[in-house]
Amino acid sequence: MQHNFSLQPFNTFGIDVKAKHFARFSNTIELQNQLNTFPQEELLILGGGSNMLFTQDFNGLVLRNEIKGIELLEQNDDQVLIKAGAGENWHAFVQHCIAQNWAGLENLSLIPGSVGASPMQNIGAYGVEIKDVFHELSAYHIDSGETHTFNKEQCQFGYRESVFKRALKNQYIILDVTFALTKNPELRTSYGAIQQELSAKGISNPSIRDISEAVIAIRQSKLPDPKDLGNAGSFFKNPVISLETFAPIQAKYPDVSHYVVSDKEVKLAAGWLIEKAGLKGYREGTCGVHTKQALVLVNYGGSHGQQILDLSTHIIQTIQSQFGVTLEREVNIIPTHESIL
Ligand code: FAD
Ligand code: EPU
Repeated sequence: MQHNFSLQPFNTFGIDVKAKHFARFSNTIELQNQLNTFPQEELLILGGGSNMLFTQDFNGLVLRNEIKGIELLEQNDDQVLIKAGAGENWHAFVQHCIAQNWAGLENLSLIPGSVGASPMQNIGAYGVEIKDVFHELSAYHIDSGETHTFNKEQCQFGYRESVFKRALKNQYIILDVTFALTKNPELRTSYGAIQQELSAKGISNPSIRDISEAVIAIRQSKLPDPKDLGNAGSFFKNPVISLETFAPIQAKYPDVSHYVVSDKEVKLAAGWLIEKAGLKGYREGTCGVHTKQALVLVNYGGSHGQQILDLSTHIIQTIQSQFGVTLEREVNIIPTHESIL
């Protein structure tokens, strides 16, 4: 257990804040002991810190999940059930599965963070979300000390959503996640620039490794590496709006980037809205909007979390007044601010 501990190396925005108490756990007994040491303190579970923005010191207990282990539970000619500890690195786990030729996670290559955080917001990229390959997870119930199992339905996955961000927020600590992968892949190459990337390399019959490498190349071409430039990926969700709200926007901007979600709704590309509003590359002191991907806010060095939060409020207000669309933050703001726009 450490005290007054700097969290700067533990969040990909690189914000220099301190935790009142900090410890790591690698099994449930350690977790229980640490929780019992400071039962009254506000609690934060930390994985890779790649989806959070700290706006001030954390006046409580930060516990870093370092539960390791990858276990093959079952397999037949078609399917594989594989369990990973919540503290495993996500991308390393994806690469492990690709090396065994187990398909399903390849489109989710190079997403930073831990396995345990992946169900929190149902991580997604390039046409796949973890709900597509999710089997079950086990989680520690903080109040009772019991471990509970959740199947896919119980997790209530949605676009960047799960029950752990809503009805069960702050009630559970995810210990491990089990995925159902396949030995007979259905390759998903239609999203974004994957096909283009494969064609450029002359690949017409791709393996899952080829897809993983294509996704990695696309991501590296536009997303900043947190080692070079602090960020937490997309700062906002892509807004899902009704066709009625969409009609006047499309009339005014015929090139508006969008995807049809249902016969009643479309999803707009928030990066397009921010770029169209003239904010791509916009800078406010030590933070700004990334020059290659307008959905990503960056810390050029020494930024305070509050400055980045204020920048995000400015973006929300600008998009609201120009397009009549309200952007919702995707990154977790810590501590939770109930009253921010
Ligand atoms: P953290 O940031 O540590 O935690 C996130 C939230 O989950 C916090 O509320 C935390 O308290 C909670 N939490 C973490 N672990 C546990 C646990 N074991 N039990 C209970 N609660 C827990 N996301 C995508 O979906 N798609 C992308 O393509 C994508 N690209 C990204 C690119 C970059 C460059 C970066 C920096 C981020 C990107 N992200 C993306 C966001 C991020 O990688 C994911 O949200 C990831 O799952 C966060 O994992 P983490 O371990 O870092 O979580
Ligand atoms: N666009 C612009 N300008 C920009 C950025 C995007 O016009 O500066 C437009 C383009 O038309 C582009 C479209 O937006 O075709 C979509 O852009 P991109 O493919 O880069 O994806 P995104 O919608 O911005 C989402 C996820 C990413 C995920 C990618 C790939 C959200 C909030 N973000 O971004 O996830 O990696 O798709 O699937 O859904 C994250 O969650 O942190 C994250 C990076």
